[in-house]
Amino acid sequence: MPTWASLNFQDSASPGMEQLVFFHDFTMIVITLITVMVGSSMIFICGYKLTNRVLLQEQSVEIIWTVFPVFILLSIALPSLKALYLLDDPFSPSLTIKAVGHQWYWSYEYSDFPGIEFDSYMVLEESTNYSARLLETDNSLVLPSLSQIRVIVTGGDVIHSWTVPSLGVKADAVPGRLNQIMMYINRSGIFYGQCSEICGANHSFMPIKVEAVPMPYFINWAMKMN
Ligand code: CUA
Repeated sequence: MPTWASLNFQDSASPGMEQLVFFHDFTMIVITLITVMVGSSMIFICGYKLTNRVLLQEQSVEIIWTVFPVFILLSIALPSLKALYLLDDPFSPSLTIKAVGHQWYWSYEYSDFPGIEFDSYMVLEESTNYSARLLETDNSLVLPSLSQIRVIVTGGDVIHSWTVPSLGVKADAVPGRLNQIMMYINRSGIFYGQCSEICGANHSFMPIKVEAVPMPYFINWAMKMN
């Protein structure tokens, strides 16, 4: 879950999010280098008149500052495409979940286990099982860790968005169509997310709580739910 005044991502819990964190860090390095280089040369130009001749009239310097950025952009574009394709990789899932966004709660259906479907509402601060402000739900989405999961996301009324930052997933829940996301949870734990599409008055109050447990525990849970 998010922590107060943190400047970075939440701890990643999926291979996809690790790719995204890596890409973010890499791009930050490139941005920092560019800012330092452009900033220092601007200061340099302000201070020295002689650079006028070199920087404004030489053709070679113009070729360099056209070609060099092309390679910088390529070095950002290629890892970006790689991450994009890895996130969209349609592997064959061992479990399929359907998440439906409503005004203002989520409902989940476990299509592989007939009969398991429930609503997930936010829990208020005064409640007994309250622990995380605006993130706690009455029924959490229980999922097995270390297995390949497909989430089918759709909307029941207006557009919502099913998002869990630490798992690196976000999909719009559009009424009348099914969006598919693939995820693999690295470890057991509780991961929080929120609706990420302005969907009305209680948009802020339809959180997502994923409880990842080892497969035997998950099967146990599914048997009990049935
Ligand atoms: Cu549902 Cu915003």
